[in-house]
Amino acid sequence: MRNLLYLLTGIILVMASCNLKKQPSDMFVVSPDRNIKVKFYLTSSGQPAYHVSFKGKPIIDESTLGFKLKDALPLKNNWELVTKNLHEFNETWEMPWGEQLEVLNHYTELVVGLKETKEPNRIIRIVFRVYNDGLGFRFEFPRQEAIDTVIIMDENTRFNLTGNHLCWWQPGDWDIYEHLYHKTRLNEIDALQFQNHKNLAQSYIPENAVNTPVTMKTDEGLYLSFHEANLTDYAGMTLKIFKEQFLLQSELVGSDRLGYKVKRSTPFETPWRTIQISETAGGLIESNLIVNLNEPNKIGDVSWFKPTKYTGIWWEMHLGKNTWDYAGGKHGATTNNAKKLIDFSSENGIGAMLVEGWNTGWEIYVAADGRKGKFDFVTPYPDYNLKKVVKYGKRKGVELIMHHETQGAPENYEKNLNEAYQLMSDLGIHTVKTGYVGTIIPKGEYHHGQYMVNHYRKVIETAAKYKVAVNAHEPIKATGIRRTYPNAISREGLRGQEFNAWSSDGGNPPDHLPNVAFTRMLAGPIDYTPGIFNIKLNPYKPDNQVNTTLAQQLALYVVIYSPIQMVPDLAKNYERQPAFQFIRDVGVDWKQSKVLNGEVGDFVTIAREERETGNWFIGSITDENPRTISIILDFLEPGVTYDAIIYADGPKAHWDDNPIDIEIHKKEVHNQTELTINLAPGGGFAVSVMKK
Ligand code: NOJ
Ligand code: CA
Repeated sequence: MRNLLYLLTGIILVMASCNLKKQPSDMFVVSPDRNIKVKFYLTSSGQPAYHVSFKGKPIIDESTLGFKLKDALPLKNNWELVTKNLHEFNETWEMPWGEQLEVLNHYTELVVGLKETKEPNRIIRIVFRVYNDGLGFRFEFPRQEAIDTVIIMDENTRFNLTGNHLCWWQPGDWDIYEHLYHKTRLNEIDALQFQNHKNLAQSYIPENAVNTPVTMKTDEGLYLSFHEANLTDYAGMTLKIFKEQFLLQSELVGSDRLGYKVKRSTPFETPWRTIQISETAGGLIESNLIVNLNEPNKIGDVSWFKPTKYTGIWWEMHLGKNTWDYAGGKHGATTNNAKKLIDFSSENGIGAMLVEGWNTGWEIYVAADGRKGKFDFVTPYPDYNLKKVVKYGKRKGVELIMHHETQGAPENYEKNLNEAYQLMSDLGIHTVKTGYVGTIIPKGEYHHGQYMVNHYRKVIETAAKYKVAVNAHEPIKATGIRRTYPNAISREGLRGQEFNAWSSDGGNPPDHLPNVAFTRMLAGPIDYTPGIFNIKLNPYKPDNQVNTTLAQQLALYVVIYSPIQMVPDLAKNYERQPAFQFIRDVGVDWKQSKVLNGEVGDFVTIAREERETGNWFIGSITDENPRTISIILDFLEPGVTYDAIIYADGPKAHWDDNPIDIEIHKKEVHNQTELTINLAPGGGFAVSVMKK
């Protein structure tokens, strides 16, 4: 079993543990490399507070912690320290699939036990884990006489920044993450201007707050990113901006239906509040803080899920060529179409195929009265023979990816969950793409509140029982739970490629993915669906287009990580295209990943080594600015000669004027080879480096 392979390379070293009666002095916990230092203390009013420095310079000034509760006094002042425990932990664990095989999990932990000096004398613990790449802290509410149920109206965790940092942010939307990223100084963040966005099926931005991850750069050139890890039975966190004080404060997603943000019984713990810290932008991408702060694998062997590329009856619907529904007469998911796509997939070594619009219910996507939940997830349309398609796929080595669009109606989905997954299990289908378009039923709930966090988790847990892996669209954000549930394989949770097909705001601009790589991607795998070759989308969408070059579309298979990568364009658009060879070749499961260079929102170059073969693939992307990138292939095995195929922007390439100008050439390379490649505006390059 995989988890038996976890190597416990370190020992738990109890460095100090004691009971304290008197008000303590400050407590410190430092990262294993001693660069990050966290101070915990109680203010003069007895309120918990912390402070963080990096290499001796403050990065978080005094920041207080507390909660506003319902029917109870706030957790704020009058605490005393009763216990403290400091220890070091060091292990290496294995990802069943991922950006790398082995993950070092090395931290120093401080656990402080606090008790109120006044009635009702409640107790809490605050835990800090400090790594070389950042820190996380969380609150633990032990079982105790004074409180059994805790109703949280607000969590007041503060991050008091030391300057007016440059920020890459998107609005703190309680219902969707499908926003562009904006680059401004902290005191210029204005999320409210994005209320009522015309391209979103649901959106709710109640405060001047940002979604996480939010990434920053200090004037001294240090990179910080704020997020959360292990979001379990709790509301998602946005960060409210206090412009003048350069202050962020947790603003949990609420529920209009219930009137509070979180309800829990003791004992429980909050998600980790995380700060990734790096001297390079690329260091943020290489950081494993978020997965490390999650529990080890709980579901055992997941070898039934194989990382794969997949085609789909999908893009044609977004182009308007076909439809999901049957009644309109342009139904895409027919047995015939599916078989043709299976042939194409099989011929090109693509292991899976998604079919959307296969099941009845798409005619009344949302009824006039707002009612939803018509899907049963088991009944195919009359022109789609599910069993036949599955059988045909099996014969050709192509597994189906099931599609469950819930219409944002989780109760209907939960009602049908077992039957739907039983059908998949009977057919030997191991992956489902789920979707939650539109506002949530029951009314007053939001996609990112505690109610939905629990729904998404229930889906993951139920799916695991049926050996099903989940790729969720309109999901809850990734917070590293893929470590605990490695069947949580990928998710959307960003403005995906589909916006290029239909959004009325010009699609995803050329700097979108250089932003995403340093923000959304820090949270976890992304189902972006790269690889559109018909960049101008003619003849279907003459007013829309993809805003990158063709070479960048290839590069995205390496840059944007996911264990399932779509090959979404119409099959005919890949025919007789030499560039398609890169998609055939590129890996999807990695032994190691290296960020070779990059700057948030500008450009990034990533090299990844494929697990099975030891072949390397390199992707580089730039925003609207052209640039020349030089890289040395010193990560290759010494003494080995490789065949590299370089897919680069041609001399006339430009994301808008000439997106398909591409130059492909072969070259022998080794670990001292330097490659210097020009990237066009909105361009990129992809390189396959395969052992001879
Ligand atoms: C939104 C998803 O992001 C998209 O991929 C899917 O095709 C539609 N919902 C329909 O379920
Ligand atoms: Ca979507």
